[in-house]
This record gives sequence, structure tokens and C-alpha cells, in this order.
Amino acid sequence: MLNIALPKGRLGEKVYAMFAEAGYECPSLLEPSRKLIFENPEAGVRYFWVKPSDVAIYVERGAADIGVAGKDILLEYRPDVFELLDLNLGKCRMAVAAKSDFYDDGSRTLRVATKFTNIAARYYASKCREIDIIKLNGSIEIAPILGLSDVIVDIVETGKTLVENDLEVKETILPISARLICNKAAFRFKTAEIEKITSYMKAQVETHD
Ligand code: PRP
Repeated sequence: MLNIALPKGRLGEKVYAMFAEAGYECPSLLEPSRKLIFENPEAGVRYFWVKPSDVAIYVERGAADIGVAGKDILLEYRPDVFELLDLNLGKCRMAVAAKSDFYDDGSRTLRVATKFTNIAARYYASKCREIDIIKLNGSIEIAPILGLSDVIVDIVETGKTLVENDLEVKETILPISARLICNKAAFRFKTAEIEKITSYMKAQVETHD
């Protein structure tokens, strides 16, 4: 049985469609319910719906053999997992944003509000820019408006949230997309199955490109 952690939400539904297309169907998963675990013994799979930011934890600790996590989470927490494939879904970017009239002249410590403190710290360290990190858990866009921070480091997908809050992208840090990840021990013990599923998923990514 292959245990698969899916990120709850729209991305997870798209990812499940790819697994189903690859032959790992589990029809009960699409029925409306509050259940979180579904299995199809004939196809040899068990799926779990988990919070997107928790997928890597389940996979790293072996509660799931494989799963799908955003590159943002992989870069932020650096879980000890194998990254098997870029699924080319959930595409967005990690960016620095601020009020349009903000200009960083480097004269004082930059106040950076973010959920992604490690990504932000590494980015500014690479630029030798001294910063004061303010860790928030959501609605990051409010911070520069209220003067809590000078800039934010956050995910930008359509850019709508920024526009509607009078902010703009100042720098792009990295492109982000969903990745198929694998537990390291599971890869050793279930190599054939995991390589098979990865190659089926890869074929789909290539046809969708
Ligand atoms: C993310 C991100 C932005 C928004 C960007 O938030 O933090 O707020 O999406 O999307 P857009 O460019 O398409 O407007 P999310 O919905 O993940 O919730 P959060 O506030 O908990 O981070």
C-alpha cells in the first residue's frame, strides 16, 4: 500500500486528478464528506487530506510515503525528503512587496514582515542587507499599510491581493510550484512503485506543458 499525503484544497484536487489519471484512483475521495483518509486496496493506495504546509512533515516522518508540497514550504523548512518532480501546478512566486512610494535607500535596518522567515533571512543575507524580521501568520499585506514593516516577503499568485491593498512587487525572490516529494526510507523499500508513479506523473506534466 502506498500512502499519499495530499494538500487539502483546490491544488490537492488537481493533484489527485493526476494520480487518478496515472492509475491510482480512489473514487470515494471525491464524494462530499468530512473524512480525511481514503483507501482503494485494489489500486494499492491510501490518501490523506492534510493542511498544505503539513504535507512535508507527514512525508519526512514516514506517515506518508509520498506527497505534494509547495516549493515555498520545502525552502522554508528544508525537510529531509527527496524531491521527485516539479508538477508545474500551483505556480506563483515569492516576492518582496511594499507601498509604491517606498524606496529602500539602505540607510537603516529594513523591517520585513513575513511568514517565511528563513527564506527572507537567507535572501537578505545574500544581499548583505541588515533586516529586522517580523514573523506573522497571515494577512501579511496589512503590515506595511499600518507601518508595522517597511516591506513584506510573501507569495504572489495573481497579484490581486497586493493591488487591492495598494502594494506592489519590488523584487522577485523565487518562482514557486508544487513538487512531488518522497520519504527517504520509503524510496528504498518501495522503489519500483514510487518510480512507476513518478514516471506516470512526469508524462502528464510533459503533455500539459
Ligand atoms: C497567499 C499570500 C497572499 C495571496 C496572494 O495567501 O499570502 O496573501 O495568497 O495571492 P494573489 O496574488 O493571487 O492575490 P493565502 O491565501 O495562502 O493565505 P494567508 O493570508 O494565510 O497567507
